[in-house]
Amino acid sequence: MKTERILVTGGTGYIGSHTVVELQQAGYPVVIIDNLSNSDRAVLDGIERITGIRPDFVEADCTDLNALKDLFAKYPDIKGIINFAASKAVGESMHKPILYYRNNLNTLMNLLDLMEPNGVKGIVFSSSCTVYGEPDVNPVTEESPIKKATSPYGNTKQISEEIITDVINAGASFKSVILRYFNPVGAHPTAEIGELPNGVPQNLIPYLTQTAMGIRKELSVFGDDYNTPDGSCIRDYIDVVDLAKAHVIAVERMLQDKSEEKIEIFNLGTGRGVSVLELIAAFERATGVKVPHKIVGRRAGDIEKVWANPARANDVLGWTAATPLDDTMRSAWAWQCKLRERGIM
Ligand code: UD1
Repeated sequence: MKTERILVTGGTGYIGSHTVVELQQAGYPVVIIDNLSNSDRAVLDGIERITGIRPDFVEADCTDLNALKDLFAKYPDIKGIINFAASKAVGESMHKPILYYRNNLNTLMNLLDLMEPNGVKGIVFSSSCTVYGEPDVNPVTEESPIKKATSPYGNTKQISEEIITDVINAGASFKSVILRYFNPVGAHPTAEIGELPNGVPQNLIPYLTQTAMGIRKELSVFGDDYNTPDGSCIRDYIDVVDLAKAHVIAVERMLQDKSEEKIEIFNLGTGRGVSVLELIAAFERATGVKVPHKIVGRRAGDIEKVWANPARANDVLGWTAATPLDDTMRSAWAWQCKLRERGIM
């Protein structure tokens, strides 16, 4: 077991829980802080079943500075932070902007404030390809232009990147790695943890697997008149376990001072654009389960096409999104079946 503890904010959430598994399997002691606003305490059981270790858990809100102070006092061995704690629904952010700015920005600023006095060496920040907006050219590199955000959610990611940059440039003693995720999908291959959407899913894969299960009547494909080969939107779907592994590499890079740079930005994607219709076909092929679907109108605010150039992450981090899409589709389905087996949905 390593001695440097990693604080994972939002560690019972979708990407957070998969990252906790990878951290523990790499030998890191972990403490999770989560307010359980969009996750369930039972996720800790799933993590324990996979790794044999129950991560320390603090139920609190990262916008509560005093709760964070107490946590650092209790765990003086925290040397790295991975910050997942955030609100993440694009549509909701249009209706509740203050909630998004408060949650996402206050959480980040509280953490940044407490790093130096507590001797924390680095913070990994969950950003998003949403910062590129509708790119003029695909695939996008980290140097592609940042477009004006089209939602408060997207804006919190842009502002967060700027806050981190300003704090580091002001001479902070710590480092930061900003990870721009493309579209994370799938679940742990053990089906012990996965995505637990609240209510009717807004994202493609949970809606698709719930439709395959018969929970939803049919999947709506939002538009087939885009300027793409089959007319449906194109994204870069990255397996959540591959994504989680990149966080271990990123945090290690800061703890071991492997880079001269105090702040680094990486795209995390496969480098392959996949359309909505191709994704449905991949799911049906991989699982043998049909997904009833129909074409409907475009969804307001959708990007036509975006996929990553992950060369920097490949070269500098020595990381690639290695999981074949079919395996990811099978893990997403196995997780949906597990939820049914447990009577959750
Ligand atoms: C967006 C953001 C991403 C953010 C995520 C969180 C962009 C490029 N991406 O992802 O940063 O983290 O929201 O919610 O802004 N679709 C259907 N039917 C459905 C659901 C989705 O056809 O029922 C289509 C969408 O039109 C889109 C694709 O599936 O083309 C993926 O949609 P979704 O899973 O919601 O993710 P993004 O909108 O790409």
